Amino acid sequence: MERVLKSETQEIIHDNQEYTLFSWSKQKGTNPIAVKYGEGVYLYDYDGKRYIDFSSGLMNVNIGHGNQRITEAVVRQMQEVSYVTPSCITKVRGELGKKLAEICPGDLNKAFFTLCGASSIENAIKLARLYTGRHKILSRYQSYHGSSNGAMTASGDPRRLPVDSQQAPNFVHFDLPYLFRWEHGEESLLKDSVAQLERIIAYEGPNNIAAILLEGESGSSGCLKYPVGYLKQVRELCTKHGILLIMDEVMSGFGRTGKWFGFENHGIVPDMIAMAKGLTCGYLPFGCLMVSDKIASKYEDAVLPLGLTYSAHPVSCAAALETLKIYEDDNLVENASAMGKYMDQQVALLMQKHRSIGDWRNTGLLGCLELVKSKKTKEPMAPFNAKPDEMGVMNKVAAKIKELGMYTFVRWSYIFIAPPLCITKEQIDEGLTIVSKALEIADENISAADE
Ligand SMILES: Cc1ncc(COP(=O)(O)O)c(C=O)c1O
Repeated sequence: MERVLKSETQEIIHDNQEYTLFSWSKQKGTNPIAVKYGEGVYLYDYDGKRYIDFSSGLMNVNIGHGNQRITEAVVRQMQEVSYVTPSCITKVRGELGKKLAEICPGDLNKAFFTLCGASSIENAIKLARLYTGRHKILSRYQSYHGSSNGAMTASGDPRRLPVDSQQAPNFVHFDLPYLFRWEHGEESLLKDSVAQLERIIAYEGPNNIAAILLEGESGSSGCLKYPVGYLKQVRELCTKHGILLIMDEVMSGFGRTGKWFGFENHGIVPDMIAMAKGLTCGYLPFGCLMVSDKIASKYEDAVLPLGLTYSAHPVSCAAALETLKIYEDDNLVENASAMGKYMDQQVALLMQKHRSIGDWRNTGLLGCLELVKSKKTKEPMAPFNAKPDEMGVMNKVAAKIKELGMYTFVRWSYIFIAPPLCITKEQIDEGLTIVSKALEIADENISAADE
């Protein structure tokens, strides 16, 4: 029998689909891009097709793809030493700790290095409970904190629902609606949300609550902005009741929102910061839990019961240190802020053109379009936690985006727009032209009431 020869791309896709598992997906029917290399804001597949990456991978490749300064820093470190136990030290570990203390506000000066976002969150939860001697963790329904057991339970995101029976104890969620779907204005949203949180603290018993965990700016739940002043009031409630405030900066950290950290847009200082993604921009897996001197001082004369074989991995530390230098040398935090403003202006024009855009929420370059079937009723183009058969129009929009040469994250009725922070105005225009073309499909599905 004659063997049908596969192209290189087909072979790669076949091996991946046959021998590896895909996250958060039905295994049949995945349609991945086989990426050969990346450069700046672009990814290239094995057939030479170029994709503009409008979600920076998973909102982590903030410095852009293929930066050889990281490769060189990693190789240099590997030529010296690739691994030491966390009880040995390296020059790069200390340098990185010092640099992070410099960019973090207040007395957030002590770094515990982890492996990823979820392991930063797990250690934050564990440390908050140890430090306070309390057990409950409060977090927002509309949040994602990672897929390990504790982090997943802390997440209100429906990704936790298929593993509902495995949820960890002592997590309490609260609702925080967002302005687009709140009919009574921002002032009432702020008042109601704070009052609701106060009631939950009272019901759960303030002395039982170790920490409130919140994203610095909302990410994959749809960039649902905090009402202005909300985080300040949460900070005050935490201080009043001796509850620790943990900010999850895994997605919103490292320039993504036009500041080093998302919470800096809200004028607060937390007690701990969970970091990952933009710390190494995905060049190597890594994370960090930054804690205040006050918390760390408890463990001067007591054992700190946290540990990971790969904590402070020298090669990941080297990648992180070089990444931080790139942010500074290339003024990426400032560029995110400036390009974010340009993005807002250009999206405002798209909103005039496309009837299917219900809302645009963006801070720096962490943005999301919410598509609706009707501007009048605000019925979303796909419902919250949409099932595959409810994603018809959105799947067509996503397929068009990909066909036209863009990679980005499409979820329910959301199209995320969070490109690498090194993006230029011309590249924003190029990306939005693709989005606009794809939105024509959504516009055709506007309900008759809006005609
Ligand atoms: C806000 C936030 N926290 C935590 C995580 C988990 O990070 P990781 O996937 O590296 O475990 C994510 C991942 O998307 C995230 O967006």
